[in-house]
Amino acid sequence: MLLGEHTQDTASPAPTHTSEGERIIALRGVAKSFVDAEGRSRAALEPVDIDVRRGEFLCLVGPSGCGKSTILNLVAGLDAPTQGTITIRGEAVKGPGPDRTVMFQEAALFPWLTVFENVLFPLEVAKVAKGEARARVERYLRMVHLWKFRDSRPHELSGGMRQRAALARALVIEPEILLMDEPFGALDAQTADLLHAELETIWRETKKTVLFVTHNPREAVRLGDRVIVLGTRPGRVKRVVSVDLPRPRDQEQRDVALLAAVLRNELKSEIEKVLREEVDDGWRPAQEPVRPGPDRGLGGGI
Ligand SMILES: Nc1ncnc2c1ncn2[C@@H]1O[C@H](COP(=O)(O)OP(=O)(O)OP(=O)(O)O)[C@@H](O)[C@H]1O
Ligand SMILES: [Mg+2]
Repeated sequence: MLLGEHTQDTASPAPTHTSEGERIIALRGVAKSFVDAEGRSRAALEPVDIDVRRGEFLCLVGPSGCGKSTILNLVAGLDAPTQGTITIRGEAVKGPGPDRTVMFQEAALFPWLTVFENVLFPLEVAKVAKGEARARVERYLRMVHLWKFRDSRPHELSGGMRQRAALARALVIEPEILLMDEPFGALDAQTADLLHAELETIWRETKKTVLFVTHNPREAVRLGDRVIVLGTRPGRVKRVVSVDLPRPRDQEQRDVALLAAVLRNELKSEIEKVLREEVDDGWRPAQEPVRPGPDRGLGGGI
């Protein structure tokens, strides 16, 4: 059984816990509420327990509003949990730190700076010596294949190139942990494919720990060592899936497509829940559920 082979059920105790030696990030009973416009407290995230292993590529997948960005922002130290603790290498997260950088869907490059100056910027803030800083910018711009475009400004680049520049800027301070919030979500499929391959190579070469948020199950299966499926309203961990498929993977590969279909099916009821709350009364879910299986030709149609 595909599902049985690849998944751990969250009903088992502490499914995402790992041993202390291999763990780098630990969320314990982490919950987050926000106050809405009427002043009522609303739970965005129910208490979750998540471990990220050192050097792991961990994907969080879930529908809009399930708390993916919330989790990432909490780990980044950009926001504090309402409840629970987040530790990195056993130390409580109290705010942002040089061991973590976040990369968002929109590159957020400074439009008036060149690519080189954009990547240099965090090193200037960190007061890294000039020579060392320039050498690092060159190393990471070469790594993302943008060295030739170092004097271009962001508006002269394609979306994929802008995300590469943002990746170089995230890497240049050499954080141990890379937090990525749908970094390729706005790109066309072929550009995203290329960047998946580049990111995977960089991850392997630099041995970073990556926490990668996506709403796309195929992207999660393409990249992740494990995938955490989140449910919504409020956000919670639904399932933890180990992706035991050889790398590099191809999104069109049958096993990738089949496992993605399992995750997509898992998310379907969650997405329906969101739609029921967000659209007019007449909405009904489609009658035909997506089921993985060799007789259904799912490999080509997802
Ligand atoms: N600063 C905030 N103030 C109030 N509510 C917030 C805030 N940030 C997030 N929320 C709410 O928390 C819930 C989770 O939001 P979050 O942005 O983490 O979801 P997400 O999974 O990243 O969604 P998407 O896929 O659309 O990016 C949503 O209901 C959202 O409206
Ligand atoms: Mg988000």
